[in-house]
Amino acid sequence: MSASKLLSILALASSVVVQAQRFPKEDLILCDCGIGDYTEHPEWSTSRQMNWYQNIAWPESGYAYPDAPDMAVQVPYRDGIYPWVPAGATATFSNGDVWSAYIEDGTPNGYIAGRAVTTKEGGQSLNCWAYRGRPVSAALNKTVTDDAVCWSAFVCNRDEHAPPVPKDMESQTSSKSTSVPPSTTFYSGTHSTTQPSPTGDDPVPAPTQSPPGGLFVDVFANPRFITWQASWNDFLANFVWDESTGKCISKPVRGSGYEINIECAGIQLDQNAHLTLILIQSLRQTGLKSLWFNQNPVVPGSNSTNGTATDHWVVMPEAFSLRVTDIANDKVIGYLGYSTNYDGFITGPCSTCDTERFNKDFFDPIIEAMQGTYPYYDKYTVQGQCDPWMECK
Ligand SMILES: *[C@@H]1O[C@H](CO)[C@@H](O)[C@H](O)[C@H]1NC(C)=O
Ligand SMILES: *[C@@H]1O[C@H](CO)[C@@H](O)[C@H](O)[C@H]1NC(C)=O
Ligand SMILES: *[C@@H]1O[C@H](CO)[C@@H](O)[C@H](O)[C@H]1NC(C)=O
Repeated sequence: MSASKLLSILALASSVVVQAQRFPKEDLILCDCGIGDYTEHPEWSTSRQMNWYQNIAWPESGYAYPDAPDMAVQVPYRDGIYPWVPAGATATFSNGDVWSAYIEDGTPNGYIAGRAVTTKEGGQSLNCWAYRGRPVSAALNKTVTDDAVCWSAFVCNRDEHAPPVPKDMESQTSSKSTSVPPSTTFYSGTHSTTQPSPTGDDPVPAPTQSPPGGLFVDVFANPRFITWQASWNDFLANFVWDESTGKCISKPVRGSGYEINIECAGIQLDQNAHLTLILIQSLRQTGLKSLWFNQNPVVPGSNSTNGTATDHWVVMPEAFSLRVTDIANDKVIGYLGYSTNYDGFITGPCSTCDTERFNKDFFDPIIEAMQGTYPYYDKYTVQGQCDPWMECK
């Protein structure tokens, strides 16, 4: 098939999709309202709401309000949980449209922070951009004051970039980075993070080679998140390695506004087992289960993956690595990791380590993958830590 024919088919396909949307320029703004109205906690918001616009026109000044939203709905704190988080928040507008937003709240301003999905018109999905601090509307909730104001937190639309920052707001960014980082720079394994795995009852007969040894796996996660705009498998497909050296030979991977570098190396255990492959498997399984990786969530209450089926995304740490040490001789025998370089300047709040993400769902998949090193190693200890503890710029 000729390229031009393929292009025209693609163009046809995408125009069909656009026609299916009644409001292709719609915006859903996730707002924090009433900041400053609690006298004891001036940095808290008093309520949260979703504003929907057929097509918002942002004023030129960062201090002016856009026109009122076409619809707005309050999003209560569910069980005391801030709604703009990966677990998602769902609200129903007055016309019956249901929207759910899944947000990584540590995303720096200007970067994609998640998705908003709706069941209307057969299911649609928008990109959500971190875009904090613009006044957008009055608050629906008048409990604390009659004239509470809503500020943008995240803006969801079909664009490939965040809305522009007005000239008069540019100078007042990134002032939060002055706080002193805590003296501990990592979360060490004296708590529940160190989990020796019981493999003594493994049914495999004792190997003929030298007695099995122990492995220590250090895992480092950056506390700031990026959104990978494809599936987890697509991301892992970038871990290309050379079987003769055991090293990754991946090219840097482009994302939206950033580039990811990939590195790995590992020893060959025997003809059938290679540590590099076991490390890739560790990352794959941890990514599927751990809270450090938020695989694209589904719209609650909707079974069909149709409509939003083509949309895959993963919210993941901007850097992550595993380092495997042979305890007997203290030698590093395997390493796998990725890290992110941003195209532009980063602004937004500081991201701090959420150590609760180092839980059973994080450790178990790594231990399980490490069992692939048996019969050469039969004891596995995994330690998770943030690196750095706090990321500001
Ligand atoms: C309105 O604001 C008050 C005060 O912050 C809060 O207690 C209440 O839950 C809010 N109402 C909704 C529906 O979120
Ligand atoms: C989801 O699908 C299952 C079986 O296919 C069905 O029993 C269930 O009612 C569906 N739930 C919704 C919310 O559609
Ligand atoms: C999804 O949509 C496609 C095209 O519209 C259709 O062929 C397919 O049967 C749908 N699948 C489900 C599960 O509804």
